[in-house]
Amino acid sequence: MVTSAKLLKDIFFCPEESNFYSHCLEALVFNNCVGSESIIELGSGDGIPVIKSLLGAKFNGIVHGFEMNPLSCEAAEAKIEQYGLTDKYIIHNKSFFDSSKPNAEYLISNPPYLPALDNKIYQPLLHGGIDGITITKQLLSLDYENALLMISSYSNPEGLIDYAVTKGYHIANFIISPLTFGYYSSELKVKTRIEEMRINNMAFYSQNIYLLAGVLFTKQTKSKVNLSTELVRLMTAL
Ligand SMILES: C[S@@+](CC[C@H](N)C(=O)[O-])C[C@H]1O[C@@H](n2cnc3c(N)ncnc32)[C@H](O)[C@@H]1O
Repeated sequence: MVTSAKLLKDIFFCPEESNFYSHCLEALVFNNCVGSESIIELGSGDGIPVIKSLLGAKFNGIVHGFEMNPLSCEAAEAKIEQYGLTDKYIIHNKSFFDSSKPNAEYLISNPPYLPALDNKIYQPLLHGGIDGITITKQLLSLDYENALLMISSYSNPEGLIDYAVTKGYHIANFIISPLTFGYYSSELKVKTRIEEMRINNMAFYSQNIYLLAGVLFTKQTKSKVNLSTELVRLMTAL
């Protein structure tokens, strides 16, 4: 299959990352849902991560996905139809932040986390602000009981985890994977910002590898194990 730069600019395409998001969803969210929970998502992309995890789990609830990019929405809706999941995964072609949203027990997202001085990059909708965590912080300020969020070792991971703690979250569980820098994170403007952040201990990576973590934040009763310290230690290790 040939993937042209045009397509990469149109719809988020990074199978390695999307597969890992899907794995985290299945292991940390869908397999822990017991009834007909409602789940809300920022940034469905082509819908494949949620579709895959829905197919692999016994989940009786509904996922409401918000996606701003109309081309991604079209692709997601076609896939949802193809897999017979129209009653379980509903896509809203709207900005997550400007819409009224159904109540939900879980917020899920592989959010935009590319750091850059401004959003004039290949895909402006992947811009996560100057240090990559602006959107993720906005999500954590919305007070959902549980939030499964993907966080990157080159996007100020310690700042983000500290922010989550100030918002009353602790970490119920997490999964970490090494990923290679891809099309979007290798863009010169993004890479330059990541290199600047590294000098200030806000980005951690080796030559072509960074770490991505699926982190389940929760406001429910705290366990005795302090996973925040362990997560910071691992995410800043490279
Ligand atoms: C990193 S991609 C993840 C896509 C998909 N979940 C995946 O993992 O393959 C982030 C997605 O968020 C979307 N997005 C960015 N800002 C958004 C917003 N405010 N509301 C809804 N979607 C948004 C982008 O268009 C993009 O598709």
